[in-house]
Amino acid sequence: MTEEVLDIPFADAFSFDPSPTWERLRDEAPVIRVRTLAGAVVWLVTRYDDVKLVLADPRFSRAGVVAEDAPRVGVSKPLPGTLPTTDPPEHTRLRKLVSGAFAHRRIELTRPWVRELADGLAEDVARAGDHADLRQLVALPLPIQVICTLLGVPYEDRETFRGWTELAYSMEMSEQVRVEAAMTSLLDYMAGLVAAKLRAPASEDLLDDLCRTDLTESELVAFGLNLLVAGHETSANQITSFVATLLRDPAHWDRLARRPDLVPSAVEELLRFTRLSEVGQLRVALEDVEIAGVAIRAGEGVMASIGSANRDPRAFPNPDELDLERTPNQHLALGVGAHFCLGAQLARIELQETLWALSTRFPRLRLAKPAEELPWRRVLVSGLSELPVLPG
Ligand code: HEM
Repeated sequence: MTEEVLDIPFADAFSFDPSPTWERLRDEAPVIRVRTLAGAVVWLVTRYDDVKLVLADPRFSRAGVVAEDAPRVGVSKPLPGTLPTTDPPEHTRLRKLVSGAFAHRRIELTRPWVRELADGLAEDVARAGDHADLRQLVALPLPIQVICTLLGVPYEDRETFRGWTELAYSMEMSEQVRVEAAMTSLLDYMAGLVAAKLRAPASEDLLDDLCRTDLTESELVAFGLNLLVAGHETSANQITSFVATLLRDPAHWDRLARRPDLVPSAVEELLRFTRLSEVGQLRVALEDVEIAGVAIRAGEGVMASIGSANRDPRAFPNPDELDLERTPNQHLALGVGAHFCLGAQLARIELQETLWALSTRFPRLRLAKPAEELPWRRVLVSGLSELPVLPG
């Protein structure tokens, strides 16, 4: 019998509906071979316990993905020397450099300022009236402004680095040349900023702090770029997906508008519910490991489907139901273990403050077209390419 190898992304990706493919895999083939866009064949795990294991177990290496012969997931190659592409002890050393800046208490100090930003953007939505596109008016500007300010990247440059970031996440293998050019432009852009800061470390932003450590110039560039991109791309996509998910059944939006105290638990539930990335970050097995009876050999690539884990009925009762008060809610949307999302608390503040600002300012907000007609960005970190709404 030939072994089944599925192509990713799956045919039922890019939809608000539960994935029949994930359900079948969790039940019948929880560890399966999949073919990436770049043509590499790697393992995909889909059950909650197995996903958690792959994310947290040091036998699955992130440093392995930047090796010359590593299996490739998409068009762009991962950058070596960043948090997501190192293992301990190198990863521990890098993470210590930024863990203070992203610590819960320190990052909470940004909340009042993020709230002001969100309130100001809500006014822009009011001004746009029935032509409001929430992706352009809120979902992109909020996290971009936040990460630019924290890092010390000029906000005026956003159009430039956004265009390159869009391309860098492309899933079109035919775009190889343009994607590589976009990555080079992003690296050159960050190299310019780092060089200027090394010459005159004037301000108190995170890039300045990092310039005062023993990181080399090329490490600073890779690190800075990773923080800039990771710090806005996911939050922006999640804001559009969260609002669209709530408005798809307006009873959810109306409830949140009446009960703002539910915002924190709603954000956790939406993190669990929303399908952000089709597959998750690749890892490479450092030794032979058996998962759910399947032998994974040293050197093979393994991906953990966080989205599928978050809908696994073995971990969540009625997983396909959006329950804004779900407790407990041990979702894996922000990862687990050593690579747990560095910006988790920042992301939570951005998402909470955005939902607070929009649901209190626009309690009668509605989608301007049916949810099924909203256009998906068919890229590695997915979300909607526009979110037209009627402020009400
Ligand atoms: C809703 C928004 C976000 C989501 C859903 C998200 C999700 C994740 C996940 C799942 C991981 C772990 C990946 C793995 O182990 O394979 C991760 C890592 C990371 N995230 Fe986030 N993230 C978000 C926002 C942010 C923000 C705002 C920042 C700001 C700096 C950030 C920075 C990072 C970094 C640097 C890592 C790598 C950490 C490491 O490898 O040690 N993320 N994120």
